[in-house]
Amino acid sequence: MTTTHDGATRTNNKKLLDWVHEMATLCEPERIYWCDGSQEEYDRLCNELVEAGVYARLDPEKRPNSFLARSHPSDVARVENRTFICSEKEEDAGPTNNWMAPKEMRAVLNEQFKGCMHGRTMYIIPFSMGPLGSDIAHIGFEITDSAYVVTNQRIMTRMGQAVLGVLGDDGEFVPCMHSVGAPLEPGEEDVTWPCAPSIDDKYITHFPETREIWSYGSGYGGNALLGKKCLALRIASVMARDDGWLAEHMLILGIESPEGEKTFVSAAFPSACGKTNLAMLIPPSTMEGWKVTTIGDDIAWIKPKEDGKFYAINPEYGFFGVAPGTNYKSNPNAMESLKENCIFTNCALTDDDDIWWEGMTDEPPAHCIDWKGNDWTPGSGDTPAAHPNSRFTAPAGQCPSIDPAWEDPAGVPISAFIFGGRVSHNFPLVYQAYNWEHGVYMAATMGSEATAAAIGQEAMRRDPMAMLPFIGYNMAEYWKHWLKIGRSHVATPPRIFRVNWFRKDEHGKFIWPGFGENMRALEWVVERCRGGAGAIESPLGWVPPYDALNWTGLDFEKESYYKIMNIDREIARKEANDQEELFTRFGDHLPREMELERELQLQRLYHSPPVWDLAAVQRSTT
Ligand code: GTP
Ligand code: SPV
Ligand code: MN
Repeated sequence: MTTTHDGATRTNNKKLLDWVHEMATLCEPERIYWCDGSQEEYDRLCNELVEAGVYARLDPEKRPNSFLARSHPSDVARVENRTFICSEKEEDAGPTNNWMAPKEMRAVLNEQFKGCMHGRTMYIIPFSMGPLGSDIAHIGFEITDSAYVVTNQRIMTRMGQAVLGVLGDDGEFVPCMHSVGAPLEPGEEDVTWPCAPSIDDKYITHFPETREIWSYGSGYGGNALLGKKCLALRIASVMARDDGWLAEHMLILGIESPEGEKTFVSAAFPSACGKTNLAMLIPPSTMEGWKVTTIGDDIAWIKPKEDGKFYAINPEYGFFGVAPGTNYKSNPNAMESLKENCIFTNCALTDDDDIWWEGMTDEPPAHCIDWKGNDWTPGSGDTPAAHPNSRFTAPAGQCPSIDPAWEDPAGVPISAFIFGGRVSHNFPLVYQAYNWEHGVYMAATMGSEATAAAIGQEAMRRDPMAMLPFIGYNMAEYWKHWLKIGRSHVATPPRIFRVNWFRKDEHGKFIWPGFGENMRALEWVVERCRGGAGAIESPLGWVPPYDALNWTGLDFEKESYYKIMNIDREIARKEANDQEELFTRFGDHLPREMELERELQLQRLYHSPPVWDLAAVQRSTT
């Protein structure tokens, strides 16, 4: 075993050195390499990956310093059914998580990791989630045998030598252990995307009590870039519970009014439901003077401070965004962020060495190489050129709309929390909770449609706070934490809203134009937070009457508006009844407020006067 950049010359942190030594003994790598995070190191690793056929270098003129990787066809997304929360007690993981006893899981992991890095380099990656030294930030160390992971982590986190300085001799860090799970025995040839051969050999595991992460068998996204979902959400949600803050699957954006007043909001949407789009929104030119800035597109760490306000940071340093559907109309800021210094995974390669994906251009290229490495033409039938979960890894600092305060260690003060799912029927465009408890109930019961491509049906899945796959402890205890944090030492907690851009008409078409036009809903949110803007009571919450929204420059008739605002009360009652099924899963852990809010909602759906009913408003105003 040879060692370059010996750890002992770089840090005296005993916990770190002991852990690295222990992991090296377990995994038996060919060599150990401490990453310094430099540009020179990044360039060298990328060149090595190009030589090994893992990366294709894109045209240096069209897409400078950018690369394309193709994963193994079996390793294309997070694997939720192989993701585990290994708390001592099963009920601490709760009914929504996979659980295994820590002792049992450790035995499995010891077996899997034993000798798993034969023939490979073990990289040590120091990284900070959040601006270096911010009191909201946390340090992690990822050990991995994947240079793909190292290069992606350099974009996604603040990585390198400076982290060791902040760590000091006895600083704390979250150990993140990762292996692709494909040892190379002498003489064995490597493949371009090594991973465990069977899904049953993959383990994405978390030990909340000891705050450790162990991930085996996958090289893709949240399975392998361990700072993201594993640390910044699953482990951080446990830290946040213990220390009185919030770790959320939320984008953060700034909204500047024509008067120059700035409001920051944070919004939770399930995976692939439009966080990146909303975070980089460009207001329609007709909404003169409004400006949106980006702080983050996926994760927010939020702390209430002495002044009673909630301050948020984006713990990440880059975007790991869904590629398909991204184009100069739907998200120009994302397209501009992708001009250089990016890594693309599972996108298509064009004949002129650039990337392409479905929806990038109106016309598909006449020929390209698809994400599996095969020839592709527009006549290739239903086979997509880019995988539906193909992603770009882009430095956040390259986004034209990035907020000047995005690296402020103090964070930005949040005025509103917005929650949104993908709901095609019977759910309004936007409404506001009556109070904090009601808002927490709204967020906890959030549902979103997962399109099951195989049968073409839309199945509703409950995704409380968009955190279903990411909560590191019992979901009902997390709701209690939310309830508590809104009450504690806070003068005015952020207002809570729900939105839905996805309502469809009887022909299955989206009724709301969405994207930039979502600014109209945001303007109402901002004005509600500032005490202005009209609202009327409805069974679900405060809703904007037609005239309360800014319609300048958008032809959206009152009739269409009521189509996306109105609800059928009987269907809504059935929905509120269905929520009981979710709640009963948590037994004694369910906070009383949740059931109380559900009953209040049901009562309003039965008894609130028709004047609160938008259908009646429509009849009386047209
Ligand atoms: P993760 O990175 O997986 O957490 O997801 P994300 O929430 O960042 O998802 P992303 O922004 O990549 O979601 C993209 C999807 O949302 C695409 O299918 C878009 O077409 C769709 N989308 C985003 N905004 C809108 C909108 O305003 N209206 C409609 N109809 N679709 C939208
Ligand atoms: C998500 O699935 O919500 C993501 C992508 O943001 S991944 O990092 O792969 O989890
Ligand atoms: Mn996400």
